Amino acid sequence: MKSSNINNLNKVGILTSGGDAPGMNACIRAIVRCAANHGINTVGIKRGYAGVLKKDFIELHPRAVANIIQRGGTILGTARCEEMKTKAGLTKAVEVLSKNHIDALITIGGDGTFRGAVALAESGGIKIIGIPGTIDNDVYGTDYTIGFDTAVNTALDAIDKIRDTAGSLQRPFFIEVMGKSRGFIALDVGIAGGAEDILIPETPTNIEELSQEIESNFKKGKKSSIIVVAEGDDSGGVYRVAQQVWERLKLEYRICVLGHIQRGGSPTARDRILASKLGVSAVEALVNSQSGYMVGEHNGQTTFTSLEDTWKKSKKLDTKLLKMLKVLAT
Ligand code: F6P
Repeated sequence: MKSSNINNLNKVGILTSGGDAPGMNACIRAIVRCAANHGINTVGIKRGYAGVLKKDFIELHPRAVANIIQRGGTILGTARCEEMKTKAGLTKAVEVLSKNHIDALITIGGDGTFRGAVALAESGGIKIIGIPGTIDNDVYGTDYTIGFDTAVNTALDAIDKIRDTAGSLQRPFFIEVMGKSRGFIALDVGIAGGAEDILIPETPTNIEELSQEIESNFKKGKKSSIIVVAEGDDSGGVYRVAQQVWERLKLEYRICVLGHIQRGGSPTARDRILASKLGVSAVEALVNSQSGYMVGEHNGQTTFTSLEDTWKKSKKLDTKLLKMLKVLAT
């Protein structure tokens, strides 16, 4: 492939790090093809930062990323790399990148990924652009992260199915969805799935109120109660919530932990489009000499947020929607 001299950008490394998210492949494809249009070479780094340290690279070119736009997971693999949190690890990473003439990195992931990117930029002056890719949607600076829409729709499909059996046997169901510290998935899934309640880390959980609500739902003639519980809720987890409600109501219940199913599957159209747009924006940011930013979207417009802000600032979640849910669950 021909070499570019745009802002000394000859070779851009791409890595995916942290939890994989549907749409990451669509993003890799967009980066590779947009870079090729600018005459910039791209190299894929396997298993996130671990692949930098192990020099585990693959050449990427437009044909190498054919037929991946619809695939879940990440063709590059991913990892959570402890060594990159050490000074020795960072020094080694800078050395490997420099020896392999990689002068910029595009990192796709969540806040952990961006922390690694900033540490790397500070240690070796490498140019970095981040792209938000996590099902949790918990990244400041973008309305949506790649993978969130697919995860919500996957969980929703499961809840629709659970509702059939919950209603037939007239049982409360406690359904745990992912979101290790934020309730974005739970909120959207709960509203779209017509849940009776949603428990999220952003608001305190009151077991007494929840129990009364479930009891009154059945008295009102509701056939089931669907309670969506975010993994990171302050209640101590879905098993504890269900047990505490049972102690009060003595109502037979069931628990369903949706787990990693939410991370898999073919990305939705919205995720593929977001991934494609952010991939292109990341390459163009580098071409325009930007570095140290995450590209995102707010109201359909491209945004640039300093990588530090992505974890120092907290993204707002619209807790008013919980009130709306209560009205609609009447
Ligand atoms: O960050 C994405 C996420 O799927 C979280 O929702 C979840 O808590 C975590 O990753 C699970 O991580 P692992 O795959 O390492 O168990």
